[in-house]
Amino acid sequence: MNPTHVTLVEVGPRDGLQNEAQPVAAADKIELIHRLQAAGCREIEATSFVSPKWVPQMADNAAVMAGIRRRPGVRISVLVPNMKGLEAALAAPREQWPDEVVVFGAASEAFSQKNINCSIEESVERFRPVAAAAHAAGLKVRGAISCALGCPYQGEVPLDDVERVARLMRAIGVDHVGVADTIGVGTPRRVQAALERALKHYPLAEVSGHFHDTYGQALANIHASLALGVHVFDTSIAGLGGCPYAKGATGNVATEDVVFMLQGMGIDTGHELGALVDAGAFISQVLGRPPASRAGKALLTRRAQVPA
Ligand code: HMG
Ligand code: MG
Repeated sequence: MNPTHVTLVEVGPRDGLQNEAQPVAAADKIELIHRLQAAGCREIEATSFVSPKWVPQMADNAAVMAGIRRRPGVRISVLVPNMKGLEAALAAPREQWPDEVVVFGAASEAFSQKNINCSIEESVERFRPVAAAAHAAGLKVRGAISCALGCPYQGEVPLDDVERVARLMRAIGVDHVGVADTIGVGTPRRVQAALERALKHYPLAEVSGHFHDTYGQALANIHASLALGVHVFDTSIAGLGGCPYAKGATGNVATEDVVFMLQGMGIDTGHELGALVDAGAFISQVLGRPPASRAGKALLTRRAQVPA
């Protein structure tokens, strides 16, 4: 049976804006996060504390965290690849700390090397003290399993490799794992199989899907995940996103599209679709292009035709 409530983790400010060639001002990122909160987003991945040499787009991480006015009930997460990243995230005053940190590993050895410059095993050893220190600071720890459905360098990724990373994440105390289709090649049955491997090591509430929409499969993959009872998904406003180390991968599934589908299925997410479309229009205007969200575009067109 489908869940009656679904939690969406908004990753546009991080996954989306990390991939933009043009600079986006910290003030615009902060304004986007405020608009997302106003539209009902309660889980927001705001930025990453990664090397600015590797991802210059996220170099303003501290300024973004300092500028966010958090609404009650909103939880902010940030990516941290190592202790240096965690320490930087916690160098700010307590009220600017994230509620959750995300360590990001991969099911593909080749992608692990390209993205974080170490093997899968080394990455898990790096994450171990990060998880312990984050817990000691009272933060939740999420783990991303990139390339769980395919790798831009290696191609096929065996399910056993997905399960291995889930098992390793569990062993070092990571609270939640996200099965990530970095290059958007997954199709529903394969996605279910990958999620089932993660579910061998984590309870249902602690497994999520992170689906890039490069091949147009993301909504179908969310639908297939719901059939397993999975009810937490990463989505990205206006369909922004990609990974600088996975060339050709396009954005995450658009938040507007997912909310439209779930509302149609009678599944609550807590979002207000009109305000979400406005947030998508805002960031698209900053970037100088139309939103990639199909629902967002359709609703903007309808508004233009039928003035309020
Ligand atoms: P490295 O070069 O092996 O690191 O990079 P290092 O420890 O040897 O340090 C090299 C330099 O980086 C030093 O500075 C460090 O201080 C600095 P220098 O002495 O040369 O001036 N450094 C840092 N600076 C700031 N923050 C830090 C940090 N760590 C080291 N945390 C490293 C290893 C992991 C740092 C690097 O590879 C990196 O930053 N990678 C991040 C790549 C990235 O952000 N990718 C995108 C996010 S993942 C993603 O999008 C996938 C996801 O969406 C799921 C999916 O779709 O699959 C999550
Ligand atoms: Mg991603």
